[in-house]
Amino acid sequence: METKLVFGPVTELETEALVVIVPDREPRLEGTLAEIDQATQGALRELIDAGEFSARALETVLLYRPAGLKAKRLLLIGAGKNTPGVYELRRLATVAARQLKGKNLHRIAILAPAGVAAEDAVRAFATGVDGANFEPDTYKQDRKEDRRIDALAVSFPGGSETGALTRALAEAGFIASGHRFARDLANEPGNRLTPTILAQRAQAMAQQAGLACEVIDEKRARELKMGAFLSVAQGSAEPPAMIVIRYQGNPDANAPVLGYIGKGITFDTGGISIKPAQGMEWMKCDMAGGAAMLGALQAIAAMKLKGNIIAIVAAAENMPGGRAQKPGDVQIAMSGKSIEVLNTDAEGRLVLADALTYAQQLGATHLIDAATLTGACVVALGQVNSGVFANHEEFYRQFQQALGQAGEKMWRLPLDDEYFDQIRGSVGDILNTGGRWGGAITAAMFLREFVEEKPWIHLDIAGTAWSEEGKSWQPKGPTGAAVYTLVELARVIAG
Ligand code: BES
Ligand code: MN
Ligand code: ZN
Repeated sequence: METKLVFGPVTELETEALVVIVPDREPRLEGTLAEIDQATQGALRELIDAGEFSARALETVLLYRPAGLKAKRLLLIGAGKNTPGVYELRRLATVAARQLKGKNLHRIAILAPAGVAAEDAVRAFATGVDGANFEPDTYKQDRKEDRRIDALAVSFPGGSETGALTRALAEAGFIASGHRFARDLANEPGNRLTPTILAQRAQAMAQQAGLACEVIDEKRARELKMGAFLSVAQGSAEPPAMIVIRYQGNPDANAPVLGYIGKGITFDTGGISIKPAQGMEWMKCDMAGGAAMLGALQAIAAMKLKGNIIAIVAAAENMPGGRAQKPGDVQIAMSGKSIEVLNTDAEGRLVLADALTYAQQLGATHLIDAATLTGACVVALGQVNSGVFANHEEFYRQFQQALGQAGEKMWRLPLDDEYFDQIRGSVGDILNTGGRWGGAITAAMFLREFVEEKPWIHLDIAGTAWSEEGKSWQPKGPTGAAVYTLVELARVIAG
């Protein structure tokens, strides 16, 4: 998608459709909105007074050939009562773009609303409109490929070009590409994205981005004593792959090294503790955390951020084959800890345990993992917020800053020693499940056992990685959860 910034009067802007965000707290139309109202001979005022448009969040009305504007169409979209942040701005842009592409329009402009930081608007609109082009229809004969927005102009009637704005626009393009990459990967079915194929896709991405990529295969994983990781893969005919990619944006040897660790279960049947058939097809996206790490890394490399990252995607297929691990089996993790596997469906924490250990062995000083880890997290936070766990307040503060810039929704849940009782082992050191209550928390407590006093954040994206029903701002399917935040975190840490 082509993007540009335009300055000067909005009435002069030539486009197939001009999108204008209207706040509903304004009794009067002010500034540029007043100008548009005037140019259109009071069309906005009349629509509002007639009660046809009340500017509720995401409410839209489309005017054709608006008088006094060079734009061919005017799409008004309501912002609701509060000043929109990055999350809301992106969503507004996506809803508008999805509606317009549905009408077979290709070139649109969005007016940056008053009272919003210009760079936030640029980032939100460019990523939001690009995101609107995503359709999970890779395998359809009748693809909606021609239904897409090809060009976006962000309009600043009062402003002028600055280096920061131009950079924000270019960066948004890279971030959008990384996000799309993650979404495409998460959308791939299990038969078309095995651990081996995921590793190939990661290698191709790394090569294009000029990054070093190494794939730890089964034999090497055995030499490295990755017992927890291998235990998940042993029930499958598909060999596992521990994918390691390094990004070196800062030559300083003392600079922090971020470990970006993703769960890469290409399909989760549950193993011997097999899942019910209902909805099992969604488990093709059990590698969404890993995909998020790959997408973020692609963007970070393109942006040339000044930071160092070791990304690890622990890819395996969780199957109930004849060699599969069984409930009660004891596995020795790479760190030396013994794990009693009570439920083979709690496999994500097993593969992540060794990935966390390995990242630290390779020199990561700060760790963040993302995983579609627990149904319990979906029960707690629904499909709106991802769960966040943090063991270090300063790192968490930096993370929150990144989250705000990224415009994603995540909510902190507690790490608390008292929960550890639920996973204390009798046969081995720890149990891989802590029973029914607080399942997202006991999963996080399990992971914490593999973090050696380093700042660490765990993201449970089980509820947010996949849109079950679809919304006006996203089709049913993969959402690219956590990609934006992971990119911004790298930016915050790099300083
Ligand atoms: N991949 C699932 C978690 C999941 C559930 C992701 C729903 C997306 C939507 C994970 O491997 C799993 O099966 N977790 C179990 C853990 C339990 C056995 C302790 C769960 O949440 O039921
Ligand atoms: Mn599972
Ligand atoms: Zn899983």
